[in-house]
Amino acid sequence: MRVLTGLQPSGDLHIGNYFGAIKPMIEAQNENEMFIFIANYHAMTSSQEGKNLRTNTLKAAAAFLSLGINPQKSIFWLQSDVKEVVELYWILSQFTPMGLLERAHSYKDKIAKGLNASHGLFSYPVLMAADILLFDSQIVPVGKDQIQHVEIARDIALKVNNTWGEIFTLPQAKINEEVAVVVGTDGAKMSKSYKNTIDIFADEKTLKKQISTITTDSTPLEEPKNWQNCKIFSLAKLFLNSEEQEELKKRYEKGAEGYGHFKIFLNEIINAYFKEAKEKYENFLANPQELEFYLEQGANKARKIAKEKMQKIYEKIGL
Ligand code: AMP
Ligand code: TRP
Repeated sequence: MRVLTGLQPSGDLHIGNYFGAIKPMIEAQNENEMFIFIANYHAMTSSQEGKNLRTNTLKAAAAFLSLGINPQKSIFWLQSDVKEVVELYWILSQFTPMGLLERAHSYKDKIAKGLNASHGLFSYPVLMAADILLFDSQIVPVGKDQIQHVEIARDIALKVNNTWGEIFTLPQAKINEEVAVVVGTDGAKMSKSYKNTIDIFADEKTLKKQISTITTDSTPLEEPKNWQNCKIFSLAKLFLNSEEQEELKKRYEKGAEGYGHFKIFLNEIINAYFKEAKEKYENFLANPQELEFYLEQGANKARKIAKEKMQKIYEKIGL
């Protein structure tokens, strides 16, 4: 299957992102033809601060490569390195009824949150359709909030195909239903907007601080504790195999340790799990030539496919 996904360079990644989206994507590389890009054109709709966007884009690329996107297995690039997508966006705009975009929830939600009602924000789904259709993507893994955008891409593809014949593959959104919601330090869904995250690339001090804010009950140190509804346990579980989980349950039931001890344990396992990725990440940022090499390699592969597709479209549209 040809699977394509765009990742917004939106700052610090947390372990909810990791278990909910990144890990499944890394694993999917073994069975699929994966196309993965950093959606820096899309990020412009929320901020036009060039310096920030450039830094966040490189950080996101470094993060995904160090967490396990393999540039030998997958095509990985920066959206802005394949300019054909903007050209296709304009061509697709001719096939996009206003009503289709007016119904987009994401646009309405962003306006309600105070973003400017710009044309860029309004036409965001058309650029996303161009990302998807340019590469004949079959499957598009997305979060729930993006399903409608994939449906819009499909509607646009149908309209074009009705006019020009079968030029585009019809994409299908895919939600990863198996992955459970990762809880944050306060027990709600881990999310940047709730400020309850534990960040993957946090420095030691920040990580310790984030873990220290996990709320617990007030069972005294020497009493047995309930792992079933302990947030420390549910976070630790993500990093442990079943044997290790049993051991941790026993420590809870024994009642010789306090929540402070379990927080220290959680800190250790998170550190150990991401140690290698963190080192790679720091290396990429300190030595951007290597990062740029991978991005250029990815862009070349993506551009080749994009150019071939555009040739067919130029004929149809008269360019
Ligand atoms: P966001 O930047 O919040 O849209 O998150 C990007 C993706 O990460 C989402 O589409 C989800 O698949 C995943 N994700 C984010 N937060 C969580 C969470 N707390 N638990 C599981 N998955 C999450
Ligand atoms: N809009 C997506 C998001 O905010 C990112 C994105 C851009 C994307 N282009 C895409 C996702 C194409 C999938 C396919 O998460």
